Amino acid sequence: MDLQALLDDLAVEAAPLAAQGKVADYIPALASVPATRFGLALATMEGGLFGTGDWRTPFSIQSVSKAFSLALVLARDGEALWQRVGREPSGNPFNSLVQLEYEKGIPRNPFINAGALVLIDRLLTLTGDSLGTLRDFLRAESGNAAVEVDPEVAVSEASHGHRNAALAHFMASCGNLENPVDQVLDHYFRQCSLAMSCADLAKAGLFLANHGLRADGSRLLSRSESKRINSIMLTCGTYDAAGDFAYRVGLPGKSGVGGGILAVLPERGVLCVWSPALDPHGNSIAGVEALDRFTTRTGWSVF
Ligand code: DON
Repeated sequence: MDLQALLDDLAVEAAPLAAQGKVADYIPALASVPATRFGLALATMEGGLFGTGDWRTPFSIQSVSKAFSLALVLARDGEALWQRVGREPSGNPFNSLVQLEYEKGIPRNPFINAGALVLIDRLLTLTGDSLGTLRDFLRAESGNAAVEVDPEVAVSEASHGHRNAALAHFMASCGNLENPVDQVLDHYFRQCSLAMSCADLAKAGLFLANHGLRADGSRLLSRSESKRINSIMLTCGTYDAAGDFAYRVGLPGKSGVGGGILAVLPERGVLCVWSPALDPHGNSIAGVEALDRFTTRTGWSVF
């Protein structure tokens, strides 16, 4: 199969769908990103790297980061995490307050904002530096030592982060945070503001396609742990659209409101697509379309 030609075709076919979406503006720094940007990269298990469009341009990874946080916590803490966060689809928006109150401060899964705050809280306790641990991991796996927080996005997130602050304070009131709320939020905002390209993210995610083995051959996760993260990506990685994403794409995926989506092709490789215009659930419209077409053309879904 000519993978480069396929990616080029998908860019032509999917990118125009961005006109139907809307770039996130609830974090003002994200609103200035042109909706016409489109990148798609594929990193393969054999070390191949293919890309098209803006696949080398860094963008705000936002919630795509949460798949990596989950891996880093499970690698250190195993099953203990599941006392503090569930693993069921939320069926609600990623920043819902109401569900958290009904469920007594236990987030429905690690990928909604409340769940990600618990991951960061736990990684802070385990390492003393959640953001630094994640950033070092992403640099090592992507091979890009320049992976860094975009300070403008981080400030914008923090000054408009009232919902996340409400989620964190509510969990603290339920005894489900171990560290000071302000510290957890600071690491969360900066983590979401990490800037990486499609190429960086596709390479960084390869351990998820490789049963938990890192780029240097060392083991981050057991086969079971790697399977579990992929499973949660499939069922919860695109929030209250996870059912539709699984139906259309048939791959574990993790989206972010910067317009990125990471999708795992087990034992084959990792795709990362970026197009900033979002659907009402917060997933990239052209990004989902490109992944849908990719698995249709190649037959490389998990089903
Ligand atoms: O906290 C927020 O709302 C953003 N920093 C991250 C949300 C996000 O990416 C959810 N994605 N679809």
